[in-house]
Amino acid sequence: MTDWKPPRLTPHVFVNPRLSPAEESLGKAAPGVVDANGFARAATEIKAWPGYQPTPLRCLDGLAAQLGLGRIYYKDEGGRFGLGAFKAVGGAYAVLRHLQNELAHESGGTVSVGDLLAGRYRDRTKDITVCTATDGNHGKSVAWGAKLFGCRAVIYIHAGVSAGREQAIAAFGAEMRRIPDNYDASVRACAADAAKNGWQVISDTTWEGYQEIPRHVMHGYGVMMGEMLAQLPDSALPTHIFIQAGVGGLPAAAAGYLWLEYDALRPKVVVVEPEKADCHYQSAKAGTPTAVTGKLDTLMAGLACGEVSPLAWTLLDKASFAFMTVPDDAAVFAMKTLARGIGGDERVVGGEAGVGGLAGLIAAAIDAPARDALLLDPQSKVLIIGSEGATDPVLYEKLVGIKPETVLPA
Ligand SMILES: Cc1ncc(COP(=O)(O)O)c(C=O)c1O
Repeated sequence: MTDWKPPRLTPHVFVNPRLSPAEESLGKAAPGVVDANGFARAATEIKAWPGYQPTPLRCLDGLAAQLGLGRIYYKDEGGRFGLGAFKAVGGAYAVLRHLQNELAHESGGTVSVGDLLAGRYRDRTKDITVCTATDGNHGKSVAWGAKLFGCRAVIYIHAGVSAGREQAIAAFGAEMRRIPDNYDASVRACAADAAKNGWQVISDTTWEGYQEIPRHVMHGYGVMMGEMLAQLPDSALPTHIFIQAGVGGLPAAAAGYLWLEYDALRPKVVVVEPEKADCHYQSAKAGTPTAVTGKLDTLMAGLACGEVSPLAWTLLDKASFAFMTVPDDAAVFAMKTLARGIGGDERVVGGEAGVGGLAGLIAAAIDAPARDALLLDPQSKVLIIGSEGATDPVLYEKLVGIKPETVLPA
């Protein structure tokens, strides 16, 4: 393939000096973030939801050859529960757990997912309100979960969330509130209104005294990791995962899952962020959670976060081999690369935030210092989570030049 030519992409890589030694256990290095029981319960509950199906794992052998790597495995979350993103298994699961908790408290018994799906507690759940701030996908998941399990949702969005994303959430019957500022301001507005009105915040980020719900969110993401590892076509161990971060729930869940699964043989975790919303990269360099302020101006809407989730950070600080940033151009190039299918690869639709990890991998693999620093070579077997499809089809067409529905299999 001669006419596949990446533009000049400038990744910034920071190799983590605080990475735990291989033999250290997750429970010792980062207790209380995620655990095997939490992942197992979430998988059981989520697999009982109507329409559950594992999403596909794409083997991008053509791209791997082009980049001088062994294999690239791309978990394509575009079809997840018809919502277009992996977030479907996080926020909605936390809504379920909250309702189960509330009802169990009142009735003294346990409430199954089947009871809630059948509407047996509708009289009670319709008076429960859940709320969250969102860049788009998490709010959609919470709104969908509220509809599925029968409660009310209020969703906060910020100035940078597109009208298309707003409509997609409102379509599930949620009340929408737009805050004329950035993501972190919408998180604060949501928390303040919830305290005033007695609503339950279903956030994917944590703060002091608020951890249980975001832990459910992270455990929900584990269902995707379990599917992915079961789908790997050969027994050779993956060597790396390049994974995009917003507040860090996704990479923490993925890193935690891999740690529990592979222990000392776990793959190297490389956390990828947009260069204008690089709170993990800055926190890693500073050795402590460090906020990034300003407009967090990036096309990768789902990753436009200025503050790490403190709980997720305690795990990522120990689990991440490296942190890196990429310019928006790298995401657009990754979207185009997927849409085209390199060297006979399947054609895949990846959204702006969804391709963050792949953008990082491409940028690093073609940049000699980054490639060396991240120990990429022809034996590397790299996991990628394609965390969304074209969740904003108008923007997708603008960036890639074709409509997502015209990206047909090669
Ligand atoms: C498509 C997509 N990928 C990745 C992320 C990052 O997840 P987290 O904020 O848990 O790090 C998000 C967050 O909204 C997202 O929407």
